[in-house]
Amino acid sequence: MSILVSYFSTGGVTANAAKKIAAVTGGRIFEIEPEIPYSFKDLDWMDSHSRSTLESKDPNAKVALKKLPNLIGVKTLFVGFPVWWYTCPKIIDTFLASLNLKGIQVIPFCTSGGTPLQTCEKKMKASNPGLDWKPGLRLTASTTLEQIRAWIDSLNLA
Ligand SMILES: Cc1cc2nc3c(=O)[nH]c(=O)nc-3n(C[C@H](O)[C@H](O)[C@H](O)COP(=O)(O)O)c2cc1C
Repeated sequence: MSILVSYFSTGGVTANAAKKIAAVTGGRIFEIEPEIPYSFKDLDWMDSHSRSTLESKDPNAKVALKKLPNLIGVKTLFVGFPVWWYTCPKIIDTFLASLNLKGIQVIPFCTSGGTPLQTCEKKMKASNPGLDWKPGLRLTASTTLEQIRAWIDSLNLA
């Protein structure tokens, strides 16, 4: 079972979550990076004109990616992100749309200030139909490797 743990993170919290998942699964890590990095100002959700706010409001927003992963042999793709405006950042939609995910199980995970992953999963499934989605997990700083193991075991991955 070849596993890729991809993630986007601007503050390091989701990056840490990805490291834990990689430690439990033995998966390879891939950082999803925008061609133009987000500045501190870009991330200001109080500013209705900041880059992240504008992208979140625009259903057709695309975020240019620095690179794509090699998916040869990959059967399971974890996709991690910080919740932005109650769903995944638009870079995740661009990332998923850029890949051929036929025959690959897609498992979301997130970190957030409190928004549950289920809120995001509904929207992500609607904007990325046709993928083989498996139930994801919201991780916090205190999520243990045992909790991650229990979640992954419950998925009965192929
Ligand atoms: C633009 C923006 C929007 C956010 N929107 C939400 C939200 O809707 N719900 C929530 O619980 N947290 C929200 N957050 C908080 C992040 O999801 C949270 O801090 C996350 O753990 C950051 O992960 P990172 O360090 O990997 O970037 C938002 C943060 C930013 C920068």
